[in-house]
Amino acid sequence: MSDSRIQNAALRGKIMAADDAAAFINPGDNVGVSGFTGSGHPKAVPQALARRIAAAAGRGETFRVGVWTGASTSPELDGALFKVNGVSMRLPYQSDPDCRNRINAGEANYTDVHLSHVAQNAAWGHYGKLGVALIEVVAILEDGRLVPSTSIGNNPTWLDLADRVILEVNAAQSARLEGMHDIYSVALPPRRQPIPLAAPADRIGDPYLRVDPKKVVAVVETDCFDRDNKFSAPDENSRLIAGHILDFLQYEVKKGRIPPTLLPLQSGVGNIANAVMAGLDDGPFNDLTAYTEVLQDGMLDMIRSGKLVCASATAVSLSARALGDLFANIDEYRKSIILRPQEVSNHPEIIRRLGTISMNGMLEADIYGNVNSTHVLGSKMMNGLGGSGDFARNAYLSIFMTPSTAKNGALSCIVPMVSHVDHTEHDVQVLVTEHGLADLRGLAPRQRARLVIDRCADPRFRPALDDYLARAEKSANGKQTPHLLGEAFDWHLRALRGEAM
Ligand code: COA
Repeated sequence: MSDSRIQNAALRGKIMAADDAAAFINPGDNVGVSGFTGSGHPKAVPQALARRIAAAAGRGETFRVGVWTGASTSPELDGALFKVNGVSMRLPYQSDPDCRNRINAGEANYTDVHLSHVAQNAAWGHYGKLGVALIEVVAILEDGRLVPSTSIGNNPTWLDLADRVILEVNAAQSARLEGMHDIYSVALPPRRQPIPLAAPADRIGDPYLRVDPKKVVAVVETDCFDRDNKFSAPDENSRLIAGHILDFLQYEVKKGRIPPTLLPLQSGVGNIANAVMAGLDDGPFNDLTAYTEVLQDGMLDMIRSGKLVCASATAVSLSARALGDLFANIDEYRKSIILRPQEVSNHPEIIRRLGTISMNGMLEADIYGNVNSTHVLGSKMMNGLGGSGDFARNAYLSIFMTPSTAKNGALSCIVPMVSHVDHTEHDVQVLVTEHGLADLRGLAPRQRARLVIDRCADPRFRPALDDYLARAEKSANGKQTPHLLGEAFDWHLRALRGEAM
């Protein structure tokens, strides 16, 4: 790598191999790493650390660390460390199969927490002491300021709190990312002030991360691309779900409840979210903005087409194709994309102020509108809550979407009672499946149940849901939210026995 990426003389003196840098991480350390939905994560030191952990295990020694991230990372980080069972505690959102397996086997503790809460919880000391910050950057300036990479996440907090700092300087990431970021720090109560951000395009901080150079123990040069966050072309269900949402938004505009430019969009992760973006790209709305957490391919396409004039996020999470496009045209994209700390991208104050239109995936919803985003059949962790709760409670419009069935139609994603609650009926305004959209705003629980069954449930499961509701209305101890408590989870119990719900 050319020296021009590391201009600070003192930090140039700290350049070393990943294996040497990993030696600064001790058993029992908590390590705050960069990385958010497979972007901007360190690529070399985690693998070197995994080798150290495996070697220690070979000697019969226990070597485990706590891993705190922005959100999900990649096979080089979560994958490598969980494969060797080297993680005692992981937080917050994850999506790596090895990580998920360890969590569900009870071999690693996992704290699933609202993404906007992580930085303040860490600063308050709720997670313990942070030994090491391990952060990917794209360059170090002469005065020691750091040019952030493709995600910000919790990096400012990790750099502040850690005793020791290891920097990976990644030459595969465009150095011209410089200027795309907006780092603003949120003080802790009682010194917290209003965040002066009134529109997604506002810049309120400065583009660089700062670190006390005395804390930097190692600088490692890398040359690796982010995970290829590929998307398959939208399937029929995703297209139908996107269509229902677009019709609904058009109706809301016609009613005068939202402007023709809509309100700032927040879009969750995954193929359905991307399909909604593709639908918006072809749709009638112009001059759109986004105040979101992750910018995926669909939003980049909308910026290119001119539909989306500004996107504020904490990370780009792109396919290799889209990342190539971003880097090739970065001077143009920099005018429209701002990357912020997740404490700001997900801050309830801002989300409520802007009145976002939030669209997130879910595993299941119940007839009254409670949503399970995280636990398969009640006990098994899928990915985590991510930022869905930050947005769901505070958005102007909180939309949850899923295909109506899972596992080849065996499981209904509309159930009498969800087997785990991430978003309560009070935070969920709209449910959508390929069959239709239920606008639950202003409805009482029994009215909601009728609409959810009629509009969202798969027709094959509707008679059983109708029957449940009718019997509950007749025999429950109250008519506000009628349930048959002895029966509400029979659907999940059948699934656990391997039967259709
Ligand atoms: N019961 C059991 N399993 C279910 C299910 C249900 N009701 N619904 C889906 N699944 C399974 C699917 O079969 C699939 O399993 P597989 O991986 O073994 O094939 C898996 O869950 C994922 O489902 P899929 O339809 O591919 O969903 P997705 O990629 O759209 O993801 C979530 C859906 C809920 C997992 C995802 O949106 C998520 O993690 N959300 C929480 C975080 C979040 O919202 N972040 C955004 C905030 S900014």
